[in-house]
Amino acid sequence: MAGAAECGWFGSFLCFLGAATALCYLLKWSWRTWQGFQVYVLSKIWRTDLREYGQWAVVTGSTAGIGRAYAIELARRGLDVVLISRSQDKLRRVADEIESRYGRKTRVIQADFTEGHSIYPAIEEQLKGLEIGILVNNVGMNYAGMLVNFLDVPDPEKRITEVINCNILSVTQMSRMILPQMVERRKGLIINMSSEAGSQPQPMLTLYSATKIFVTYFSRCLHAEYQPRGVTVQCLTPFIVSTNMTHNIEVNPLVKSASSFARDALSTVGYSSFTSGCITHALQHIALTIFFPGWLRLSPFCVRRVEKFAQESKQQIEERMAQCQKKQE
Ligand SMILES: NC(=O)c1ccc[n+]([C@@H]2O[C@H](COP(=O)([O-])OP(=O)(O)OC[C@H]3O[C@@H](n4cnc5c(N)ncnc54)[C@H](OP(=O)(O)O)[C@@H]3O)[C@@H](O)[C@H]2O)c1
Repeated sequence: MAGAAECGWFGSFLCFLGAATALCYLLKWSWRTWQGFQVYVLSKIWRTDLREYGQWAVVTGSTAGIGRAYAIELARRGLDVVLISRSQDKLRRVADEIESRYGRKTRVIQADFTEGHSIYPAIEEQLKGLEIGILVNNVGMNYAGMLVNFLDVPDPEKRITEVINCNILSVTQMSRMILPQMVERRKGLIINMSSEAGSQPQPMLTLYSATKIFVTYFSRCLHAEYQPRGVTVQCLTPFIVSTNMTHNIEVNPLVKSASSFARDALSTVGYSSFTSGCITHALQHIALTIFFPGWLRLSPFCVRRVEKFAQESKQQIEERMAQCQKKQE
């Protein structure tokens, strides 16, 4: 009799525990779905007016790909734009397009972010006197144009410095340069381009993946520090966007074009400070986190598979890189 009563009590307790856990998960997923709906659906209807941040936007790496698309979308939404990249010709072309299509003012600054500290005083000088409302730290480069082991690039010593200067130093130095005037006005937006490749450790993209997790942590901490002083720091972690970096891979439901990505991602401003930028990339992030977690990516089995895939696809990627190079010239 006593045993049956004890069993009944224990059974009820387990039922309660099960129901409470199910309720917690239901509330968590309902909350996440509502947040996702706000960030990726409502944001397209009720857009933040980006002109509220200030007159000028500065975009690094703005002559091609995501950076160019951001510069054009920012001009379309009413901001004057400072374009920064390496090639004067390409800078002039994008600037002319913005001026003629959207009637916005532009300035161009020629700089190579792989060069390190020496370039920043000249950039600072050329930005003097501008009311900069938005900074887009977009410039970034891969370690190699494909999946490779850490030592398998020509002149790794030089390449490591270039990638760190371009992907990490640029974000920190440009933020250091422009943040003070935003803090003074208690208004500003810094958008930092991280990557899905930084969301989990990614062998064969080792240095790139590591620089991108730096960008993510830097952005999230900076946001926590400066949001109370009126400055938003948004970190974006896109999946695959069709650009020179991805050898202009065909656009499909999973791969975004740069212009469509920039449009969607800019709409999330004011709704999220840490986002994939668009709904298809957010869904791919969730699927990868569940089905391809960090421990699996780091396992010897997976690393061997990725190495094999890299070998098999090497020739095809080299051909695509050559085509892209020709197209850019
Ligand atoms: N594409 C993707 O799938 C993807 C996914 C996740 C994250 N991202 C991130 O998004 C950002 C942009 O990528 P993207 O795919 O648009 O790249 P991209 O097509 O290669 O364009 C790079 C832009 O940066 C400029 N640039 C390159 N190296 C530079 C340097 N050393 N100094 C100054 N400017 C330089 C290039 O112009 P010039 O050649 O004229 O200098 C170009 O305007 C990167 O931070 C990347 O890591 C991309």
